[in-house]
Amino acid sequence: MAPDSELLEAAAVLHDVGYAPDLATSGFHPLDGARFLQMVDAPKRLVDLIAHHSYALLEARMRGLEHDLAAFDDEGPSVVRDALWYCDITTTPDGDATTGPQRIAEIKERYGPDSLVTQFITEASPELLAAVNRTENRLRAAIASA
Ligand SMILES: [Fe+2]
Repeated sequence: MAPDSELLEAAAVLHDVGYAPDLATSGFHPLDGARFLQMVDAPKRLVDLIAHHSYALLEARMRGLEHDLAAFDDEGPSVVRDALWYCDITTTPDGDATTGPQRIAEIKERYGPDSLVTQFITEASPELLAAVNRTENRLRAAIASA
């Protein structure tokens, strides 16, 4: 098993825990999820990955929550962070597989043209798709070397 596989699995399962109504204190789910996991003494790297999943920093800036999110460290475009973003961006809300561009289009359609989320996902798309591409390249390389 790869060194960070359990961390990635935990982050993928828990990344949207901040949507739970009982946890929604700020209304910004990456921040609310990270604060909850910090409160229950989850491992720091897991908490940080969830705080910064799928370019949450950009949306935090748009919501005036950048200072709050700065309480959590962003490890940058690591293999695990990219893979977490890949999992998020290549999965539909129902759990089906999709492509990055289709997922982004679905989010824009679901939230509508005037939504902050649509503005966010539009601006975040290059970074999100870059993480998807890096992960797909790593997967291809791993398969080729197997
Ligand atoms: Fe999320």
